[in-house]
Amino acid sequence: MGCLVIEQVWWVVVIIMLLGLNDGSKACLEEEREALLKLKEAFNHPNGSSLPSWNNLTSSDCCSWEGVSCDNSTHRVISLLLDYVRAQELEDINWSLNASYFLPFRQLQTLDISRNYLSGLFGELRLDNLQTLYLEENKLTEVPFLGVSHSGNSKTLEGSLQQSNASLTSLASLRALSFYKNSLEGSLPQQGGLCNLKNLRVLSLGRNKFEGHLPSCLNNLTSLRVLDLQYNGFEGPFPSSLFHSLKSLRFISLEETYFTGIASLSLLANHSNLQLFSISCYNNPNLKLETENPQFIPSFQLMIFNVIKCTMNEGRNNKSSVPSFLLHQRDLRALQLAYLNISGSFPNWLLKNNTKLDSFKVGHNFLTGPFELNSTSRFMDMQYFDVSYNPINDEIPPHVGSIFPNLLSLNMSSSSLQGGFPASLGDMKQLNSLDLSNNNLSGYLPQEFGKGINDLRILKLSNNNLTGPCLPVGSNFTHLLIVDLSSNNFTGKVPEGMINSLELRMLDLSTNQLYGEIPSWIGNFKHLGYLILSQNSLTGPIPKSFCNLAELTYLDLSQNKINGTMPNCLNMPSLRYLHLRSNHFMGSIPSVLAKSSLLLTLDLTTNKFSSQIPRWFGSLLNLRVLLLKD
Ligand SMILES: *[C@@H]1O[C@H](CO)[C@@H](O)[C@H](O)[C@H]1NC(C)=O
Ligand SMILES: *[C@@H]1O[C@H](CO)[C@@H](O)[C@H](O)[C@H]1NC(C)=O
Ligand SMILES: *[C@@H]1O[C@H](CO)[C@@H](O)[C@H](O)[C@H]1NC(C)=O
Ligand SMILES: *[C@@H]1O[C@H](CO)[C@@H](O)[C@H](O)[C@H]1NC(C)=O
Ligand SMILES: *[C@@H]1O[C@H](CO)[C@@H](O)[C@H](O)[C@H]1NC(C)=O
Ligand SMILES: *[C@@H]1O[C@H](CO)[C@@H](O)[C@H](O)[C@H]1NC(C)=O
Ligand SMILES: *[C@@H]1O[C@H](CO)[C@@H](O)[C@H](O)[C@H]1NC(C)=O
Ligand SMILES: *[C@@H]1O[C@H](CO)[C@@H](O)[C@H](O)[C@H]1NC(C)=O
Ligand SMILES: *[C@@H]1O[C@H](CO)[C@@H](O)[C@H](O)[C@H]1NC(C)=O
Ligand SMILES: *[C@@H]1O[C@H](CO)[C@@H](O)[C@H](O)[C@H]1NC(C)=O
Ligand SMILES: *[C@@H]1O[C@H](CO)[C@@H](O)[C@H](O)[C@H]1NC(C)=O
Ligand SMILES: *[C@@H]1O[C@H](CO)[C@@H](O)[C@H](O)[C@H]1NC(C)=O
Repeated sequence: MGCLVIEQVWWVVVIIMLLGLNDGSKACLEEEREALLKLKEAFNHPNGSSLPSWNNLTSSDCCSWEGVSCDNSTHRVISLLLDYVRAQELEDINWSLNASYFLPFRQLQTLDISRNYLSGLFGELRLDNLQTLYLEENKLTEVPFLGVSHSGNSKTLEGSLQQSNASLTSLASLRALSFYKNSLEGSLPQQGGLCNLKNLRVLSLGRNKFEGHLPSCLNNLTSLRVLDLQYNGFEGPFPSSLFHSLKSLRFISLEETYFTGIASLSLLANHSNLQLFSISCYNNPNLKLETENPQFIPSFQLMIFNVIKCTMNEGRNNKSSVPSFLLHQRDLRALQLAYLNISGSFPNWLLKNNTKLDSFKVGHNFLTGPFELNSTSRFMDMQYFDVSYNPINDEIPPHVGSIFPNLLSLNMSSSSLQGGFPASLGDMKQLNSLDLSNNNLSGYLPQEFGKGINDLRILKLSNNNLTGPCLPVGSNFTHLLIVDLSSNNFTGKVPEGMINSLELRMLDLSTNQLYGEIPSWIGNFKHLGYLILSQNSLTGPIPKSFCNLAELTYLDLSQNKINGTMPNCLNMPSLRYLHLRSNHFMGSIPSVLAKSSLLLTLDLTTNKFSSQIPRWFGSLLNLRVLLLKD
C-alpha cells in the first residue's frame, strides 16, 4: 500500500513538472460559454447539480467559473479541470460523453475529466492545441478515436459504438495522455493510433485490461518520459528494444504484466534521467529480471526502485543477490526488494549510501545480520522500514528510536530477532504500526514504550518470550485498532493501557499467563470484531458490558477459569466462531445465541452447562462444528 501511495504522489509530481498549468481571466467568448453550459448539462445528466458556478447570468464571466481557465489575450478557454465533478450519487447511472462537445474550445490545452464514472467517450476530438488529456479512474472500455478499441465489435458498449476516423494528427500536440484505471480492453493497434502522438511525454495505460503485444511503433515515441503499463494483460517477449530506444524515460512502471523472457536492466544503463523503475511478478513466473549479466555502471540516480516477487538473477538453489548497480545509487527515496530469495548479509551499505530513504523494504528474503546501525546514524526521512521474514539473527539496534525518529511503520516480524525490546522505540512519536511478531524477543516491555507513542494503531508482538505486563504500567494508548500479544509469557491482568482505544477492532491476548477477571471496559470497544483471550488463567464471569459488543465475529475464551452464566442480553448478530471450551460456565446454553444465525463453529466442551440440547440449534443453518462434549 505504502509504495502505491508514493507512486501516485510521484505521478502528480511528474504531471506538475511537465505541464506548469496556466490560469487566465477576462470575459469569455459567447460560443464557448454556450458550449460550457452544454457540457454542464452532460455532466449532470440526469439530475445532478455539479458546477453551480457555471450559470446562465450574462454578467458572469465563464473564464472565472470553477475548473475553467482562459488565455489572457484571446480570452479563449485553454484549460478545463473537471476532475471528480460528477456527483457520486450518479455513479451507477451509465453515462457517455460526446467528445464533439469540446470542439468549440479551439485553444484548449489541458482537459482533465478524471474520476467522473464515465463509461463512454464517442464522437470526434479534434483539438490542435490539446497537450494534456486525463481520463483517469473512469469506466471506459474503449476510446475509438485514439485507436484504443476492442479487436472485435462484439463487446462494444451502448452509446460508444461510433467508430470515428478523426485523424489523430489532429491531436498531434498531445504531450500527456492518461487512461490510468479504466476498463480498456483489447490490444493496441500495431500501426497508427497512439504511435501518431509523436510529442507524447507521459503515457499511462496502467490498471486496464489491455492485452496482446505492444506495438513496435511505440519505439518512435522518443520524447516519452513516463511509461506506465502496470496491471494489464500485455504479453509477448519483453519489449527490450522499446526500452532501449526510449532514452528519455524517467518513470517505468511494469507491475503485473504478462511479458515473458528476460528483462535486462543494462538496457537502461544510459538512460540518464531514469528516476523510477518498478516491477512485480506475483502472477508471472515467466518474466525474469536480470541485473548482473552484463554488469553495468548506471548513468542514472534512481529515486524509486521496486522489485517484488520476480525471478531475479536466477542462480544456484533459487538464491539471488542484491543488484550490484545499486552500489552506484545515492539518491534513493524508496527501495523495495521483496520476495526475491536474496541471500547474504543485510545490505547495510544501501542505508549508508542513501540517507534520504523514506521507505526501505527487503522482506521475504534470506538476509542475515548483523545490522550495522550505530547510535550516530540518523535517517530523518525514513517512514517505512520492513525487514520481515529474513533470518537476520541479531538484536534490534538499541538506538533504533533515534536512528529512525520519524518512522510510521516498523516491520521486523519473523526475523529471528533476539534480546530485549529497546526502550528507544518509545522515541518514535509518529509510529502507527509495530510488528515484531514471531521472534525470540525476551524481557519486559519498557515503560518508555508506553509513554512516547500516541498514534500507535497496530501492535503485534505475538510469538515471542516477553514477560511482565502486556502493556507497560502507566501507558495510555488511545488509537489502537489491532493488538496481538498472543503466545508470550505476559503476566498480570488484562492491561489498562488500551482502555482509551475505543476504536479497537481486534484483541488477541491468548496463550499468556494473565489472571484476574475480564475487565468490563472491554464492552466499550463497540467495533470489536475479534476477541481472543484463550489459554490464560482468567476468572470470574463474562461482564454484562459484553452485551454492547454487537460486531463480534470471533470470540474465544477457551482454557481459562471463567465461571457464571452467559449474560442473557448478549446480542451478536455477526458472530461466526464461539469457543468457550474448558471453563467453568454453568446454567443453560444461552438462548441468545439463537440470534447469531451466522454461527459456524460452537465449542462448549468441558464446562458445567446443564440443560437439554435446545431446539433452536436447528435454526443455526450455517453451523458446521458443534462440540458439546463433557
Ligand atoms: C494572465 O494574467 C495573470 C494576471 O494578470 C498572470 O498572473 C498570468 O500569469 C497570466 N497568464 C498567462 C498565461 O499569461
Ligand atoms: C436522481 O435520479 C435518481 C434516479 O434516476 C434518483 O434515485 C435520485 O434520488 C435523484 N436524485 C435527486 C437529487 O433528485
Ligand atoms: C455529438 O455532438 C455533435 C456536435 O454537437 C453532434 O453533431 C453529434 O450528432 C453528436 N453525436 C451524437 C451521437 O449524439
Ligand atoms: C473510416 O475510414 C475508412 C477508410 O478511410 C472508411 O472506409 C470508413 O467509412 C470511415 N468511417 C467513418 C465512420 O467515417
Ligand atoms: C518510426 O518512424 C520512422 C520515421 O519517422 C519510420 O520510418 C518507421 O517505420 C517508424 N517505426 C515504426 C516501428 O513505426
Ligand atoms: C552506454 O554508453 C556507453 C558509452 O557511450 C556505451 O559504451 C554502451 O554500449 C552504452 N550502453 C547501452 C546499453 O546502450
Ligand atoms: C524462491 O525459492 C523458492 C524455493 O526455495 C522457490 O519456490 C521460489 O519460486 C523462489 N522465488 C523466486 C522469486 O525466485
Ligand atoms: C555505497 O557503499 C559501498 C560500500 O560501502 C561503496 O563501495 C560505494 O562506493 C557506495 N556508493 C556510493 C554511491 O556512495
Ligand atoms: C557510525 O556511523 C557514522 C555514519 O555512518 C560513521 O561516521 C561513524 O564512524 C560510525 N561510528 C562508529 C563508532 O562506528
Ligand atoms: C523465556 O524467557 C525465560 C526468562 O524470562 C527463560 O527462562 C526461558 O528459557 C525462555 N524461553 C525460551 C523458549 O526462550
Ligand atoms: C489518556 O489519554 C486520553 C486522551 O489523550 C486522556 O483524555 C486521558 O486522561 C489519559 N488518561 C490517563 C490515565 O493518562
Ligand atoms: C466464580 O469464581 C470466583 C473465584 O474465581 C468465585 O469467587 C465466584 O463465587 C464464582 N462464581 C460463581 C457463580 O461460581
